[in-house]
Order: sequence, then structure tokens, then C-alpha cells
Amino acid sequence: MHHDPAPPFLPYSRPLVTEEDIAAVTAALRDPILSQGNRLASFEAAFATAVGARHAVGFSSGTAALHGLCFAAGIGPGDEVIVPALTFAGTANAVRYLGGIPVFADIDPQTLCLDPEAARAAVTPRTRALLTVDFAGHPSDYDRLRAVADEAGCLLLADAAHAPGAAYRGRPVGSALADLTAFSFNPVKNMTAAEGGMVTTDDARHAARLRLFRTHGMTRDPAALEYPAPGPWYYEQQVLGFNYKLSELHAALGLSQLHHLPAYNAHRRHLARYYTQALAGLPLHLPAEPPEGTHAWHLYVVRVTAPPPRHRDALFAHLRTAGFGVQVHYIPVPMHPYYRRLGCSIAHCPETARYYTQALSLPLHPAMTEHDAERVVNAVHAFFETDR
Ligand SMILES: Cc1ncc(COP(=O)(O)O)c(C=O)c1O
Repeated sequence: MHHDPAPPFLPYSRPLVTEEDIAAVTAALRDPILSQGNRLASFEAAFATAVGARHAVGFSSGTAALHGLCFAAGIGPGDEVIVPALTFAGTANAVRYLGGIPVFADIDPQTLCLDPEAARAAVTPRTRALLTVDFAGHPSDYDRLRAVADEAGCLLLADAAHAPGAAYRGRPVGSALADLTAFSFNPVKNMTAAEGGMVTTDDARHAARLRLFRTHGMTRDPAALEYPAPGPWYYEQQVLGFNYKLSELHAALGLSQLHHLPAYNAHRRHLARYYTQALAGLPLHLPAEPPEGTHAWHLYVVRVTAPPPRHRDALFAHLRTAGFGVQVHYIPVPMHPYYRRLGCSIAHCPETARYYTQALSLPLHPAMTEHDAERVVNAVHAFFETDR
């Protein structure tokens, strides 16, 4: 008897590495300079150009980039930073690494990003920054958030881990929309360096602090030294930094992937639009495109509005059993035990709480075909059509 093989498991995301990427990394490996060479400098320059920023500083991960961003922003013990309750924990952790206090505020249910009004209500005399997240690739409402930051006399920071290639009112995410913007290049992101991150800024002083921080707090720059150099070997450790450098291998992959980003994002957009038309009419709240912006479609999150037994948890189980790697992005950060012990909760974040009971990320990545998306759509329709 002949059995069709089961279709392979379809993850919610995976990297798409090309022969060109492999050649770039191989060339980097053949070079004796494996770290702190020209490839990182080229990647930084190309990334800065791509997002319309004056400076880009590479880091070993998106989390390290966020840590550097908070350091450059001057966050220290007791400083409050307003962050959305809905994000990956790394956003808030970066504030904690420096002794700062993440103050969780609710999301706008349309954009899934920090709600400017909720942010305004969370401002106190100790607020040092707003740190918004371009959730799922949707740009934050930067103009309104900037107005809140200006009223509070604080910085506007962005976690754009989901949003390379996104734009807000014609301005790319990573440009001067925020004072500092962090990106991630981990393997599930829109472009990858295997691991890696980047911070962009237009401010040369922020850029200098970022470079210091990712290299142990050390500098050799003669113009920046605090003491006269006794000889050419001299360098100084001026602050407590970390070893957060991005190797030449990672930079080679990142630079090569940056060339694919427009095409990869276009494919994500194509699949997202396919989902949106093919899932219309079901008891699902589908994600919106920004009216005056560009979505990077890092995630395609549907919100299941049907009551049990056709609720989110059941759809999650149904799709996992059918071989689809659906996910819930994310457990709201204040709900993690670490943050609960600090006294955090989502009691004041009703939109985040509702989102968390309904949200489900469908597979979406550039290695997927429309046929793969059609299989997902068919499985979702089957779930709502059968008697349960
Ligand atoms: C919103 C957000 N911020 C930060 C990070 C951290 O990035 P990384 O995994 O590169 O450390 C991620 C991804 O993991 C993320 O999704």
C-alpha cells in the first residue's frame, strides 16, 4: 500500500540562507581577521544607510543591543523606563541590567505597540525614557509617542527587533523617529546574522557610548582619552562595558542577508495579504496594515474571538497536531515570575490581557510558499467548520 508522506512540520519562522550568504561567510573564515575587521564596519555602514541613520553599531545579539541602547540613553539605578506589557522579556530585561525600573503600560489593540495615552499616564518625575516596540513589524505611532516623550522631557527609544524595513509616514524605522533604535538578527528574524543585533542613532555621542559599551568600556581613540598616552600601546577602560562585539563571520552573514531584506519582506507581505483575504469571514481578528506606513510582517498574529470550544487554545492544539508550528507571542512580561516578584502585573493593561487570551501567530517566513500558507488556511477553516 502506498502512503503519501506526511507534509513536513512548518515552523512559524525559520531563516532562509542562500548560497551567496554561505560564500560570504566562507570568505570571512578564510580571512585571518575573525573579529573587529572591515566586515563589521561594512555591515554597520550598509545598515545605517538602509534605515536612514547616521550611525549603526553592531552587537552580538539583539538583547546586547538593547542593553547598549539603555546604557547610551543613560539609564541607571531607579530610573523609570516605560515599556509595553506586550513584548519579549528582553526589552524590559535591558532596563533591569542597569538597575532601571521598567514601568509597564498597555498596548494599542490596533497596532499592538505601546499606546501613547497609556504611556502618558505612566509618566512620573523619574521617567527617563519611553521604550516602544514595533510589534510584529508594525511601526509604533512615533509622532504621538515623541509628543509624550517631549512633554515628559525624556528620550524616545525603540525596540525594532521585529521591524527592519518598516516605515512610519515615509520615514524608515531606525532613522531619527526614535533617539536610539535596536534591532535583532537572531535566526527567526526578518534577516539573520545567526545571532546579532544593531543600534542606530543620529547622535554621535550616543554612537560613541555604544562603541565603548560593546568593547569592555575600553577606547584607544586619542581624542577620547582621559589621561595622556604614555605610548602607542595605551588604551583606557573608562566605563564598565561588556564584550558584546559581533564577529566577522556574523557580520558577513548579516551584510549578505541585508541585501535580501527587501525581497524577503516583500514575500512576507505577499503571504500576509494572502492570509488576510483567505481568512476573512472567520471569527478571527486579523492584523491591520498601518494606514500611512510599511509593515515588516515579522509575525502574522490572528486573534481568535470565538468562545470555547473554538477558542484560541483549541485552535493552537488543532494546528500543532496538524504539523504547523504556531506560537503565542508573547506571555506579557509582567506575568513572568521574575517580574511578579518585583510587584509587576497586567491589572492596569486590559488590552494586553485580552490579546494574550486570543493571540496566535501563524507560520510566516520567506522560505514558505503560498502553497504552505494555503495548507495553514485550510487547517484553520477545517477547525471552524467541523462540529466540535
Ligand atoms: C521584541 C524583541 N526584543 C528583543 C529581542 C532579543 O533579541 P535577541 O534574540 O537577538 O537577543 C527579541 C527576540 O528574541 C524580540 O522579539
